[in-house]
Formats: sequence, structure tokens, C-alpha cells
Amino acid sequence: MRGPAFPLPPNAVIGIVGGGQLGRMTALAAARLGYRCHILTPERESPAGQVAAYVTEGEYEDPGAIAAFAAGVDVVTFEFENVSAGGLELLAALKPVRPAPAVLRVSQDRIREKSFLNGAGVPTAPWRRVETRAELAAAVAAIGLPAVLKTTRLGYDGKGQSLLVRPEDLETAFVALAPKPLVLEGFVDFACELSVVAARGEDGRAVAFDAVENRHRQHILDLTLAPAQVGEEIAAEARGIALRVAEALELVGLIAVEMFVDRGGRVLANEIAPRPHNSGHWTIDACPASQFELFVRAVAGLPLPEARRHSDAVMKNLVGPEEAALWGEILAAPGLIPHLYGKAEARPGRKMGHVTRLFPHGGLPGPFGIEAALGPLAARAEVERAGRHLAEQVVQPDLGEAFGPS
Ligand SMILES: Nc1ncnc2c1ncn2[C@@H]1O[C@H](COP(=O)(O)OP(=O)(O)O)[C@@H](O)[C@H]1O
Ligand SMILES: [Mg+2]
Repeated sequence: MRGPAFPLPPNAVIGIVGGGQLGRMTALAAARLGYRCHILTPERESPAGQVAAYVTEGEYEDPGAIAAFAAGVDVVTFEFENVSAGGLELLAALKPVRPAPAVLRVSQDRIREKSFLNGAGVPTAPWRRVETRAELAAAVAAIGLPAVLKTTRLGYDGKGQSLLVRPEDLETAFVALAPKPLVLEGFVDFACELSVVAARGEDGRAVAFDAVENRHRQHILDLTLAPAQVGEEIAAEARGIALRVAEALELVGLIAVEMFVDRGGRVLANEIAPRPHNSGHWTIDACPASQFELFVRAVAGLPLPEARRHSDAVMKNLVGPEEAALWGEILAAPGLIPHLYGKAEARPGRKMGHVTRLFPHGGLPGPFGIEAALGPLAARAEVERAGRHLAEQVVQPDLGEAFGPS
């Protein structure tokens, strides 16, 4: 059943489950290392499919599509995590899968994820599993309000969660969020949000990029500042957590760990994603080897270089029709490095591309400097660490039209 031995030789085929922008940028990095990519996606003309050597168009759960896809690849990896247990088993029976299906099962389910993190000694916000109204009441009594009620699976960009502020919010949120069980988390009044991307190879060697700071707008990542403007101790703690998580998962591949820094300077893990992450896109332009290259190298069994940056950077997502409409101005603005994902339609909230702006190493400017550097995007960027109002945190508890990074 096995393909060629690792490390994969040039021209080997890397199978990627998922056709979004993460797969697209992975395929571009893989091509530079002499590999070909084969994408499995239900989508016609997907962002990844447009730049890959091969595409199998089919559902992630369709045994026929999975078999056809697996027959044409040397190793399987993911840019889309929400593949069913059955689909994962089928893939793993046919070809080597990296990261291992067990890693995906942890990250697919918020309850398993938080249990795993706490078990690995990584602190999170307090949380409780909630299956019934009585359990919700008990969980709120234990954790207090405000708190966030979330579905355990398929959430992204804030979908599938609801902020509970007053006692009367419980019933509405409980009814709206499905399927059960849910998870209740204490609301973290965070000073900032960080993330760290780490890669781990088959030999167990792991490397991590510097911690970056993430600013969200309407629960969608807006801006990433690299490096995070936090003290050395907090940055080191965040990196340490990501490396510890990669080790505890026995990961072969790439992982992003999203974290909160609370008002007391404590670093709490929020979520893990065993794949390239939006908050790591800056590495394409600011590092000799990007998160996508490290991902491909780990999956292919190649040696991992240092996760080092040559420049500081700001990454701004281009979300929805308003920001996509600025493309012409972005192309004409000095210093903006443009990335577009090839999506035909700019729906509200959809990630259409991103822009990176580089600064000399150690030279990330303050808010005014960043705003000026973003040119036509300045007015649309969450540059100030705006006072966060609870009202902004209330999200519609709908799972949206699809799952996974859109
Ligand atoms: N317990 C919490 N306390 C404060 N803010 C939260 C909490 N959980 C989520 N958020 C906010 O909502 C965003 C999205 O939540 P997250 O759990 O990362 O779900 P997803 O990214 O899958 O939509 C976070 O980045 C954070 O800004
Ligand atoms: Mg998240």
C-alpha cells in the first residue's frame, strides 16, 4: 500500500484534502520544492485546484472519490480538517497520512481539544461540557458570566458560538446551537490574542515561528502583527506552548496554536489547527522558509530549516467585496505585497486574499506607522487595539453555509 519511502523524492505527489487558499499556498510552496500536488475538493475551480497538477473533484466522504484521489498520491495531508472519521480511516488505509488522523480527531472537537491541552499541561479558559439545560445551568454556576457557548465541531470565524452575558441569554443560545454536546467557556477579557505556528518532522525535531498578534473584526482575522508586541516572557511562553503541543501530539506536520493573553499576563490556549494558519501568511514574505514550506517539508520528510524571519511584517486580510474592490489601488501602492486566492465571487465575510507589508527586523512601527504603511487599506484595518465591547462579541449562532476556512 505504501508509496515511496520518505523523504519523498522530487516529482512525488502530495495529496491535499481541501481546495481553499491554504491548499493553494501549500501547492505553490510544494512546486518550488519540486513536488506536485493533487487536490481533493468538492469545488469546481477551487483556489488550490487552479495551481495544482491534479484535482479529484468529489465529496470528502465519497469512498469512490477518496480511492481515486489516494491512488494518485504518495502522501496525504489536509488543509481542511473536518473530514469524517470514516473518510479519515479510508485514507489512512490507502496511503500514509500526515499529520496522523489521531491529530485531526483532537482538533476537530473542542472538548477533546481542551482535554488534550489541559492534559499536556497547557492552560485554557475554564470550560465545561454541556449536553442538557441542567448541565448548562450548572456550568454557568461554576464558570460565571460572561461566558461563551460553542458547538464542539465545525465552528470557524466565530460561527457556531454565542456570548452569554445575562441569565436570559442561556435559553436562546442553548436552543440555537446544535448539535449537542456544546462547550461552555469562561469569557477571557484578553489583553491581546496571539498565535504561534510550529512544525515538527518525523525525526521529532520541531521549530516554531515567533509569536504574532492577531486582531479580529467581526470574528474574522483582520490583521496579524509579526512579531507580537508583547514582552519577551510572554512571547517565549507562547512559543513554548506551541512546541509542547506539537510534541504531545507527536505531530508530523504543521500546527498553529491560537492563544489569549489575559489582563494578568497569563497565556491561555484557545484553539489548535494542525495545518497552515491565516496568522502565518506573513511568513511567505518575511521568512526564508514560510509556514507552507515547513509544512511541505514536514509532510515530505525533508529536513526542517529554522523558522526564522528576516523582516518584521504586518498582514492584512482582504475580506468580502469591499476589500476585494481595493485590489487596483493595492497593486498601485508602494510596498504592499499582494496575494489573491482566485475566488470567483466576493461574498461578505469571505477571505479573498491578503496583503503583507514588510519592515526591517525589529522595526515594526506603532499604530500610526502601520496605518500609513497600509496605504489604501489603512481605513479598513483594526490597527488600534480598540477597546473591546461585549456587544461586539455577540455572534449569530449559525453554522453558515459551509465549514472550514472559507
Ligand atoms: N472564551 C473566549 N473569551 C473571549 N473571546 C473569545 C472566547 N472564545 C472565542 N473568543 C473570540 O472569538 C474568536 C473566535 O473564536 P474561536 O474559538 O477561535 O473559534 P473559531 O476561530 O473556530 O471561530 C476568538 O479569536 C476570540 O476573538
Ligand atoms: Mg479561532
